Amino acid sequence: MFKNLFVTKPVEPAGHVDAGEPVEGSLQGEMDLKRVLSARHLLLLGVGAIIGAGIFVMTGQAAANHAGPAVMLSFVLAGIACAFAGLCYAEFASMIPVSGSAYSYTYATLGELVAWFVGWTLVLEYLFAVSTVAVGWSAYAISLLESIAHALGSGWRFPALFASAPIAYANGQFTATGALFNLPAVLIVAAVGYLCYVGIRQSANANAIIVAIKVVVILALIGFGSQYVNPDNWSPFIPANEGGDRFGWPGVLRAASIVFFAYIGFDAVSTAAQEAKNPQRDMPIGILGSLVVCTILYIVVSAVLTGLLPYPQLGTAKPVATALEAYKSLGWLKFAVEIGAVAGLTSVILVMLMGQARIFFAMSRDGLMPKFLGAVHAKHHTPHKATMLVTLVALTLAAFFPLSVLGDLVSMGTLIAFATVCIGVLILRRTRPDLPRAFRVPFAPVICLLGAASCLALVGFMGWYNWALLALWTAVGFAIYFNYSYRHSKLRQG
Ligand code: ALA
Repeated sequence: MFKNLFVTKPVEPAGHVDAGEPVEGSLQGEMDLKRVLSARHLLLLGVGAIIGAGIFVMTGQAAANHAGPAVMLSFVLAGIACAFAGLCYAEFASMIPVSGSAYSYTYATLGELVAWFVGWTLVLEYLFAVSTVAVGWSAYAISLLESIAHALGSGWRFPALFASAPIAYANGQFTATGALFNLPAVLIVAAVGYLCYVGIRQSANANAIIVAIKVVVILALIGFGSQYVNPDNWSPFIPANEGGDRFGWPGVLRAASIVFFAYIGFDAVSTAAQEAKNPQRDMPIGILGSLVVCTILYIVVSAVLTGLLPYPQLGTAKPVATALEAYKSLGWLKFAVEIGAVAGLTSVILVMLMGQARIFFAMSRDGLMPKFLGAVHAKHHTPHKATMLVTLVALTLAAFFPLSVLGDLVSMGTLIAFATVCIGVLILRRTRPDLPRAFRVPFAPVICLLGAASCLALVGFMGWYNWALLALWTAVGFAIYFNYSYRHSKLRQG
């Protein structure tokens, strides 16, 4: 049985595919996903998934509580870890263009049990990210509605009862907020879930429009905001350590593990590999291109933010709006940022929801998840049942949990998946050197090992509380594996 647990799924080189053709390997008698996405779609998909709650929300907390202006350094550190992992993802995605991302890559290299573990941690990444970003979306949406009311001369406020989760988590303590549930977060997840149900072509086009708005707003923030920067706010660059991970280098590293969240999403491009017209060429463009664009934007935006306002004042639920509020003449920009954040966070929710549905789809096709999750809609060609399940679970989490708790779990799940992918590249180079690789990680052993080490180091900077939740999550996952997936695995049956 022990050996059985590590059975690997054979890898076949990706055959030639034409746009619009059904993907090979489909179950007989079923319609399948269609190849409709170009390199431009994939790049936009990446930027759409990457820029979101990380830069619009978490930067403020990371600067105010952990790193001060040196949050810029934290972005550099997290960006380096992601660059290593991004190279490894690009090699895999151009070689095995299937929809399951890290899960599928692990199945081919480290075997079924580890693949299950990675697939299960990817649920933490994608599904929980949908909820996390929806909570961030809610803060900016409420702020936008109140700004509009204010502009119309009304003092209307969004009802506090429906504005947030019933609990909040800060400084190691849970407190009651007095709210019932987060209504805007529920509504946005339901709306995006519907869009994903209806079809990927529509979803990718809607995404392109939203990404354009988001990038324009960020560039405006950089262009106009930088004129108001006060360099005095950048000093001290790394505030002295006040104990634990509050400021000093420990704070910079803890902040890196928090703002890592801002980079999550470039890997979501790989989940669309089965829908890409030319995955071998376009996957690396989508993954690495979106990562480079976002890294540059993040470092500049965090410099502008910490330059606009002294870092202790940035620890709000909507730090970008808070920084702009301090300058009367930038009122219009605050309004634009609120619109950009609402649109931008919507596209993150979209890509993450699509990604999770496709991972369930891949796991179900392998027999590791129930069959209904692998169903494809006859008319829309989408994994509609998986989409519905993800939507329901994500909106429930978004209704009742605060952003900080969800966000750290997302980052942990993602970092573990990244580390596994980095190791997987090395293993597959040994076991299947014959496979054609349209993209190869340069200086492979060094980059792959550095990638795995830096991702695991970032996990190390998370608190014990997160470790306990991860252990619980993993235990539930293995219970499902041994009671369901082990017996239904197509690979073992076949
Ligand atoms: N990187 C995505 C965000 O920041 C998950 O919202």
